Amino acid sequence: MTDNKVNAKSVNEKVISPAVIKRLPRYYRYLGDLLKNDVVRISSKELSQKMNVTASQIRQDLNNFGGFGQQGYGYNVEFLYNEMGRILGLDRTNNIIIIGAGNLGQALANNQDFDSNGFKIIGLFDVNPRLIGMTVRGVEVYDIDMLEDFLSKNEVMIAALTLPKNKATKIAGELVDLGIKALWNFAPVDLNLPDDVIVENVHLSESIMTLSYRIHSKNL
Ligand code: NAI
Repeated sequence: MTDNKVNAKSVNEKVISPAVIKRLPRYYRYLGDLLKNDVVRISSKELSQKMNVTASQIRQDLNNFGGFGQQGYGYNVEFLYNEMGRILGLDRTNNIIIIGAGNLGQALANNQDFDSNGFKIIGLFDVNPRLIGMTVRGVEVYDIDMLEDFLSKNEVMIAALTLPKNKATKIAGELVDLGIKALWNFAPVDLNLPDDVIVENVHLSESIMTLSYRIHSKNL
């Protein structure tokens, strides 16, 4: 067995803290910008100045995955960018369906940035006959009754929930029964699902309330 195999195994088994996981997309974004600007290597100090995170924090974060830096050299930008992408699972295509093809569902489907990171929206689903059959950036809106059939024919990793909150819980359960393992939940409701289902909540209203708190706590 090679050392690489040992390392890969121990990284997979290691529990990474949510705070570290939250920073990974930022590393990926900054490294992508550096790569676009033809930067070949960067020290943790320079990266820390750009990202407003301490250099030791960066070293600690990256050490969770095996380090990647070299004493006296820093980080090779392209290598680290690719490794971050691999750690984030962006080196493969992640098919997504969107449940609820209203304002938010269509806005998500219209966002081209997802494509470049390997996220492919392959279908939207709705109950509204006026929406069913239309396409958003080339992706069809299907009748929600087609969901089971669609999932039996397509490998889908993620389902985004952009439907009214009073419908979200039931649909989430149905999606899980149909084999969906990851939900990107925009509906303002807490989903109670089996432990092996991954739920990422995105709530803009909670974010603006946090901003409001910060404004008011400074007496602005
Ligand atoms: P919308 O009313 O424009 O779209 C909702 C769509 O869901 C409609 O097209 C409707 O026909 C469809 N729908 C209803 N029942 C369904 C079912 N059983 N199966 C499939 N589709 C169904 O509403 P909008 O503005 O797009 O918001 C959607 C959801 O996202 C709401 O729950 C809203 O509260 C939430 N939201 C969350 C935000 C966030 O930051 N997380 C921001 C904006 C909205």
